[in-house]
Amino acid sequence: MNILAEELNSVLSDSVAYGFLSSIGRRMYFPKGIVAQSDEAKEKAKRYNATVGLATKHGEPFYLEDIYSSFREGLFKPSQIFSYAPGGGDKTLRSLWKEAMLRKNPALSGKKFSLPLVTGGLTHAISMVAQLFVSEGDAVVCPDLFWDNYDLIFRDLIGAEPVLFPFYGKEGGFNIDGMKEALLSVPGDHVRIILNFPNNPTGYTPSQEEAKRLVDAVVSVADTGKKVLVISDDAYFGLFFEEDTEKQSLFSYFADAHENIFAVKGDAATKEEMVWGFRVGFITYASKGFSDAHLDALTKKTLGMIRCTVSNCDRPGQSLIVEAMRNGSRYEADKAEIFSEMKKRYEIVHKAVRKHDGDNLLTPYDFNSGYFMAFDTHGRSAEELRLYLLDKYQIGVINIMGGTLRLAYCSVEPEGLEELVDTVYKAAGEIWS
Ligand SMILES: Cc1ncc(COP(=O)(O)O)c(C=O)c1O
Repeated sequence: MNILAEELNSVLSDSVAYGFLSSIGRRMYFPKGIVAQSDEAKEKAKRYNATVGLATKHGEPFYLEDIYSSFREGLFKPSQIFSYAPGGGDKTLRSLWKEAMLRKNPALSGKKFSLPLVTGGLTHAISMVAQLFVSEGDAVVCPDLFWDNYDLIFRDLIGAEPVLFPFYGKEGGFNIDGMKEALLSVPGDHVRIILNFPNNPTGYTPSQEEAKRLVDAVVSVADTGKKVLVISDDAYFGLFFEEDTEKQSLFSYFADAHENIFAVKGDAATKEEMVWGFRVGFITYASKGFSDAHLDALTKKTLGMIRCTVSNCDRPGQSLIVEAMRNGSRYEADKAEIFSEMKKRYEIVHKAVRKHDGDNLLTPYDFNSGYFMAFDTHGRSAEELRLYLLDKYQIGVINIMGGTLRLAYCSVEPEGLEELVDTVYKAAGEIWS
């Protein structure tokens, strides 16, 4: 094993993170190779800096005028568009994201957590967390309605064993007892869970009271001596449409909840800043018992993962986000406007499904947030309904695991939403009654 990896492992050995490291995680380190040496040269090589494979003239990268001229004149230096970004991301962006995280999650204030590392989108963040902290055969607890890419990442890439529990409890709401039972059912002293709110595909986020009970339930598992890795997938963070919904990331509560809880937050500019194609996400770490040295070692291991997967992330995207967050004259106003538009669509869809209360073919799952709502098809084939809607009505929806039909109301204009919902019910009636 590389000596640098051994050093990081030794730093982490007295932390809750250590026991979660996969064999990849143990081997991972940030090499003192080209990137580290060129960072050093940036400081000291004032005469000639011949370290990086990036063609420059007078200290700025070469570029094609056709590309550079597409950006507003004078806004960015060529290096802010064409250069490599630092491995962990643009420093300013990382600080701005941390400040924004604190603003949006007041419960994080005063708590120790790492400076977010930039990833190539949230998928990349989750995939790296999986590779670092989950090994083949490890159980990963997850509610049974989840983003389908978890299967590909945890089960198919890593070879982990999904341990699913019903998303909703018998009385409605998030199934906290089922979650606790699933966590306790995993043998051994380490257990991993991934939670995604607002949820894809259901569009559900726990209420404030539920969120508190959820955190308490995980703490009670940690109290038994089990170490718990909690990954919060905050892809749709901020899209909360009801008064009593929990508006802070669960990461804010897990960050200092218990010495046995290792909290990881995956989030992204993708949906929060509406830049789907930019591929800019973030990973942040916290635990009650973490020292600065622990956070630094975890950061270095993650930098190693970034280096060996994408090397570094999208530069123009990061510069554009920094510019908007720091100087954008319409930044807050535009975000507020788009939020209102999403809330409006949410309300229309809510009203439209309520008209069909009591329908015995399709039952909407409780939803209060995010981009989606979904129907339980009660064992009938969601794929059959999907194909029928597509062929007969030219309506595209998603079949989730055969028994759930997902509507992305975020991508349909308000005027069409009622008709969309009515047609889904009508189509179900046509094929199943
Ligand atoms: C629940 C969930 N997590 C993560 C992601 C990935 O986001 P990104 O596009 O930033 O990779 C998505 C995107 O659809 C998602 O729905």
